Amino acid sequence: MNTQIPPKLRGIRNFISIAEIDATVLKALLTFAIERKHAARIGRLQPVLQGKALAMLFQKPSLRTRLSFERATAQLGGQPINLEDHQVGLGTREAVEDVARVISSMCDGIMARVYEHSFIESLAAHASVPVINGLSDEYHPCQAGADAMTLIEHFGELAGRRLTFVGDGFNVARSLAWTCAKLDMVFVQAAPAGYELTDTFLGRVRQAVPTAELSVVRDPAEGVRGADVVVTDTWTSMGQEDEKAKRLADFEGYQVNAELLRAAKPEAVVLHCLPAYRNVEITDEVIDGPQSLVFPEAENRLHFQRALLEVLL
Ligand code: CP
Ligand code: NVA
Repeated sequence: MNTQIPPKLRGIRNFISIAEIDATVLKALLTFAIERKHAARIGRLQPVLQGKALAMLFQKPSLRTRLSFERATAQLGGQPINLEDHQVGLGTREAVEDVARVISSMCDGIMARVYEHSFIESLAAHASVPVINGLSDEYHPCQAGADAMTLIEHFGELAGRRLTFVGDGFNVARSLAWTCAKLDMVFVQAAPAGYELTDTFLGRVRQAVPTAELSVVRDPAEGVRGADVVVTDTWTSMGQEDEKAKRLADFEGYQVNAELLRAAKPEAVVLHCLPAYRNVEITDEVIDGPQSLVFPEAENRLHFQRALLEVLL
C-alpha cells in the first residue's frame, strides 16, 4: 500500500524556493513531514520509490544535503545517484538545459546544489521530472523546511513567534524570511552594514504576504530581544572564501554567545544549519547548550526531504 499524499500536496511539481510554495501547502507539507517522521520511527515507511532514481548534482560541497537525500531515497526503496559536478560540468561542459533533458530521460527527480539560482530555474524549466533546490546562492528551502519542522515539534503552533536571524542576509536568511512570512512568524535580521536583506527582497516578501512582519536591525542585542528563536549561519558562505578576512572583521560583535542569548526569551531555542564555525559565529557553549536544537534540526533534513521525495516523486 502506498502512502496517502494529502490532496493539498498533490499539485507540487518542484521545490525551488519557499517563495513559490503557497502558505497552506507549506503548512500541509510540514504536517506531512512530521507524520512521516513518526511513521519512519515505527518502521512504517513504504518503498514508494522502488524502481525510481534521484539524480543529485553538487557544484558545492555538502555533508547533510548529500547524506540526507541519499539516505531518504534509499529508505524509500529508490536509487540515489550522486553526479559530481567536476564530471558533469553544469553550464560549462554541458548546457544546463541539456543536462536537465538527459537526466529526465533516465531518472525520476533532480536535486541540485548550485551557485547561480538561475541554474535551478533552468533545470526546472527543461526537466520533465521534479527539481529540488539543495541550496543556491539565493535560497536554501530544504533547510528552511527542516528548520520549521524542528520548531513545530518544539513549540507546536508557530504563529506569532519571533525568529531572529543574526548574520548574513544570504541564502539561509532569505529562505527563513519567506518561511516566517508564510507561517505568520515575526522575522528580524540583525546584521552589520552591507549584509542586510535588501529592501527589494523585503518588498517582494511583503507584496506576496501583506501580513508579513519583517525587520532589519543593526544591533544584535536589540534584534534578539524577545526572540523565541535565534538563528545564525556561517559568516562566509561557500563561494565567498576570498572575502573571509573582511567578513570576520565586519561581523565582529555578531557572535551568538551566552551573553547575546540572554537578551532573548529565557525559553528561546537556537538553530544553525551547519556546518558551524565553532567559536566564530556561534560558541561551543551555545551550540552544545540546553537551548540548542541544532542537531535535531540537522536530523530533520532527512525527515523533511524524505517527505518531499514522497510527495514529488
Ligand atoms: N546545512 C547544510 O545544507 O549542510 P551541508 O552543506 O553539509 O549539506
Ligand atoms: N550560507 C551557507 C549555508 C551552508 C549550508 C552557505 O551557503 O555556504
